Amino acid sequence: VTAPDLAGRHVVVSAGGTREPLDPVRYLGNRSSGKQGYALAKAAAARGARVTLVEANTGLPDPAGVDVVRVGTAVQLREAVLKAAADADAVVMAAAVADFRPAAYATGKIKKTDDGGAPTIELVRNPDILAEISADRAVPGQVVVGFAAETDDVLAHGRQKLRRKGCDLLVVNEVGERKTFGSEENEAVVLSADGTETPVPYGPKEALAETVWDLVLPRLRTPAV
Ligand code: PMT
Repeated sequence: VTAPDLAGRHVVVSAGGTREPLDPVRYLGNRSSGKQGYALAKAAAARGARVTLVEANTGLPDPAGVDVVRVGTAVQLREAVLKAAADADAVVMAAAVADFRPAAYATGKIKKTDDGGAPTIELVRNPDILAEISADRAVPGQVVVGFAAETDDVLAHGRQKLRRKGCDLLVVNEVGERKTFGSEENEAVVLSADGTETPVPYGPKEALAETVWDLVLPRLRTPAV
């Protein structure tokens, strides 16, 4: 039996990977399946929280008892997360958000040219949602959690990212073509702004989700509203 230790709380979780359209048939995307974010949302609901799950392109079924908002792009994800965060006790950004999007959207399919050349795609920066919600908390004492998907020097990059993003907790996990993305398991170190580092051994994404909520819990403002 799960203790309802998140009862009376509203939490927001983002999951999945954004897709940034190039033309009506193509996009820039990433390998996120949404499984880690869904595990977080389900765990919070089981612990009694009201959960808003903002999902991008996962194709996963709605978890029972969770409000699901479906989005496609980083800009749409930002809008939905900021809206839901307005009265949230905690926000967990597990989504893989594209840092860049094509500068222009071609309304017709981009065609091959006869000269054998290839088009150059110009990119522009997307907003950094995690940095924004960390810097400008909608609710005093709101707990903000980020994830860091790294391929090398995982911990060093994670520590830098925690400072740069300004969140309270950062879950650092290693990713690769077949590592973490889409799998049922994960392995991570959760870094906190107050300097603690909590290793989470390789295991089901559900176990990492529970550890994240265990670490969020003592940081929540009191009392629950
Ligand atoms: O979905 P799965 O297949 O289960 O895989 C899980 C996962 C690998 C996607 C997940 O565990 C994970 O690491 N999610 C974060 C992926 C990511 O975008 O990492 P990042 O290091 O690029 O970004 C750092 C943080 O900033 C993340 O919390 C991200 O949501 C956030 N971000 C990034 C870019 C941006 N423009 N805005 C953001 O808010």
